[in-house]
Amino acid sequence: MTTRPPILLLACLAFTAIALPATPDKTVIAHRGASGYLPEHTLEAYAMAYGQGADFIEPDLMLTSDGVPIALHDRTLDATTDVAERFPGRARDDGKHYAIDFTLEEIEQLAVKERIDPETGEHVFPARWPNTHEAIRFRIATLAETLELVRGLNHATGRDVGVYPEIKSSSWHREQGVDFERAVLEILADYGYTGADDNVIVQAFEPESLLRLRELGTELTLVQLIGGGRNYDRMMTGEGLDRVAAYADGIGPSMTRIFESDGTPVKDNFLVREAQARGLIVHPYTMRADRLPGYADSYDDLLEHILFQAGADGVFTDHPDLTVRFLKSRQ
Ligand code: G3P
Ligand code: CA
Repeated sequence: MTTRPPILLLACLAFTAIALPATPDKTVIAHRGASGYLPEHTLEAYAMAYGQGADFIEPDLMLTSDGVPIALHDRTLDATTDVAERFPGRARDDGKHYAIDFTLEEIEQLAVKERIDPETGEHVFPARWPNTHEAIRFRIATLAETLELVRGLNHATGRDVGVYPEIKSSSWHREQGVDFERAVLEILADYGYTGADDNVIVQAFEPESLLRLRELGTELTLVQLIGGGRNYDRMMTGEGLDRVAAYADGIGPSMTRIFESDGTPVKDNFLVREAQARGLIVHPYTMRADRLPGYADSYDDLLEHILFQAGADGVFTDHPDLTVRFLKSRQ
């Protein structure tokens, strides 16, 4: 039996704190929902983020064995669910349980918990949701449920909060014989998201994933993620950004691409400046109040660096409430 926590109650409680989006020209993207407070990628975390005034809700996407896009960051279920206890004997040879080996019906039986390090069993973020509240059972959301939640809340509030799905591990899914991009576009279309003016942004690390979306004819807004690793150095040049601008509408760089660890702008803030010069929006990730880079004295200081010194257009954040509060203070 699936026991659901009171999602709408959480949302209502959160609404007591919100008014309207903080500022029209900086975008607050709730990274995995309000994941600084509730287990990531649950409808509860999404509802809380909505209530905190986020402009977009971010679901990372993986596929089930029966082809359903679900909100999940990892290919495996071990760090954020009770899969090992609930489905013993279903791990692959590496000892891990892969989402794509489970049907949606099975996935729905899992209890989601705050992220732990599977090696040590320790919380990755110790100050966040404690996994001791066993009477409350969170579960994995589907993309469709996420869209349904946002649509319902938009209707109920009169706001127009968007959804910012990320297609994870596109080439890996292709190797498993599935067309992930087509599956995502079909569900987005079911909810009316088809055009450039619709309030959805699709993101991916793999350029091939975004190119596949364009090949399928989508006009949705697309964002190319730029990781911190060497693979993405080629995008840190004028020619690289020209190539990105040919198929995408924005970039989502790691914040390590904006400031060095001592707070010095990377390449004289080349990435933000040159991306915006090409008409690309810039949404760096991931702002966390409980994991600050060395150069930031506080969360507000981090936001000041990224949004105003570097001039990014928005941020992915685990703490939408603190980001909204900061932006209001800057108005
Ligand atoms: O999608 C932006 C940011 O979320 C990328 O990092 O690993 O948290 O999906 P990740
Ligand atoms: Ca993501």
